[in-house]
Amino acid sequence: SASATTAPAPAAGGETKDDEAKAPEKDVKTTTLKLAFNQSEKHPQYLALSEMSDAFYEATGGAYRIEISPNELLGSQKDAFELVQSGTIQMAMVANSIVENVNPDFAVLGLPYAYDSVEHQKKVFTSGALDDIFASTEANNFSVMAAFTAGARCIYTDKPVQTPADLKGYKIRVMESQTCIAMLDAMGGVGTPMAQGEVYTAIQQGVINGGENNEITYADLKHYEVAPYFSYTRHLMIPDLLVMNTATLKGMSEEDQQTLKDLCKEYTEREFQLWDENLEGAKKTAEEAGAQFIDVDIAPFQEACQPVIDNVTSKSEGAKALYEEIRSLAN
Ligand code: GCU
Repeated sequence: SASATTAPAPAAGGETKDDEAKAPEKDVKTTTLKLAFNQSEKHPQYLALSEMSDAFYEATGGAYRIEISPNELLGSQKDAFELVQSGTIQMAMVANSIVENVNPDFAVLGLPYAYDSVEHQKKVFTSGALDDIFASTEANNFSVMAAFTAGARCIYTDKPVQTPADLKGYKIRVMESQTCIAMLDAMGGVGTPMAQGEVYTAIQQGVINGGENNEITYADLKHYEVAPYFSYTRHLMIPDLLVMNTATLKGMSEEDQQTLKDLCKEYTEREFQLWDENLEGAKKTAEEAGAQFIDVDIAPFQEACQPVIDNVTSKSEGAKALYEEIRSLAN
């Protein structure tokens, strides 16, 4: 369960904070909510969550702060997700594909080519369209608080990939879900699931031929060193989900719960902005190290992925309705 301390705990991520200005109101105990994050302190999601932690602290008069552990310090996303469900930690940022393993309807949020643009995705994440599916997981001891953008994922390997035929026999790492595996197979390659932290070495050792991710993660994890061709297939705008232990959430006052929910909406938008601001820098870093970014005609990939979409949306009424709702918000 959450740990309570009388004094403000040290600032997360090595940021310096003015302890005096941030001191809780007299007699207020500060409860620390531990949040697991699998990427670095430079990542836009980290930046947004860190701002949100400050805002939550202020808004609750010092009653709560969120302490973010970056770089898989609390384990891979899969491990962190289990720690949240057991209440060992309180929050984690995990890929949608991890939550899909609990409620298959989540697969809809991570279907290839489900979102036409960043604007479309922002509308879906902030319009309330996801409120019902977010509340659906409470029986599994976790609540989904927000969907954060993670850009558009593209294929990277040892050569440019222009068509599905170029992927023939290519083992491409995907996130750990059936939908991700089926998607990559449909795109012409061999979907190979593994945790993010293992990808660099697996490519280097030839266990796989490449990966698929957004530019920021590609640069952050230096995957360009082992897979220098990044082809703009833009096949997946799969969100990351902020998950929270349900007992911890419900243990907060109604007012604090509402404050947190409102902040989650606000920082969902803010993270889109931070994503946008960090994108070019990531590309530049990769390019300076020799990476090549290649434009791709997405139509053949889109067509190849249609059976995956049909399969997931035909599995339940809920999945079908959610997909239709997402599509109806496209411009
Ligand atoms: C992205 C995403 C992460 C995910 C990772 C992955 O970086 O933001 O949540 O872990 O891709 O490929 O595993």
